[in-house]
Amino acid sequence: MSSGHSQDRRRRVTTRELVAMKERGERIAVLTCYDHLFARLLDGSEVDVVLVGDSLGQVILGYETTLPVTVDEMIHHASAVGRAITRALLVVDMPFLSFQVSDEEALRNAGRIMKEAGAGAVKLEGGDEAACDRVRALTRAGIPVMGHLGLTPQSVHRFGGYGVRGREAAEAERLLREARALEEAGCFSVVLELMPTPLARKVTEAISIPTIGIGAGPACDGQVLVLPDMLGLNEGFEPRFLRRFAELGEATREAVDAYVSAVREGTYPSERESYEG
Ligand code: KIV
Repeated sequence: MSSGHSQDRRRRVTTRELVAMKERGERIAVLTCYDHLFARLLDGSEVDVVLVGDSLGQVILGYETTLPVTVDEMIHHASAVGRAITRALLVVDMPFLSFQVSDEEALRNAGRIMKEAGAGAVKLEGGDEAACDRVRALTRAGIPVMGHLGLTPQSVHRFGGYGVRGREAAEAERLLREARALEEAGCFSVVLELMPTPLARKVTEAISIPTIGIGAGPACDGQVLVLPDMLGLNEGFEPRFLRRFAELGEATREAVDAYVSAVREGTYPSERESYEG
């Protein structure tokens, strides 16, 4: 392989590139990440977008929902990820109440995320008029925004759970309308979470920005999974849409058991693993 080609392969993915990928019919691979260690591993891959999602709250910080996650926590984790990511577009979630109150607060918080964490874009949930106003305010200030429709976990108390959205005609129509409105407001992409395949297909065909599905079937322009879920580290979480590409939870437990046994039996450290005087 020529060095020119390998340099090209490592070129930073941009929001424009993602839209061009949709135009070319190329599928977009997105994964979440929350720390530097895994970010270094992801940076060696061809993943297009690394998302520091506010799923951080549940998966890493042990909160019951994503609601307690703060802007400071997002920045703390996103900066650690950002210090490792050289190719993928780094997108960072705007946590609950960091953008809902006003355009000014959304700008201040998104600005901090861009400046302090080195994000290339932010993501925010919802597609109503207020959400579209925020998208307009942020994009006017030069901050690219990814939308998020369908199951929006920050609204868990409004919807009363984490079920599939858009099964009823009225809600499906609203979601389609909101996807169009988010595109119109300036989003460069939109996540579609937990919705029936036919609706995700309809949305994907109706807008020219890429849709990134999670639990939304194969018709989306790209897919996103939560990294610890797809690595088998988040044991007990087994929704229908999740494919585990590894079983690192089991591998970790086996490694820890082997280490404890070796220490107890006195076989670790061996002479080879020790220093001479
Ligand atoms: O917070 C998150 O990780 C997300 C993805 C599941 C899309 O929003």
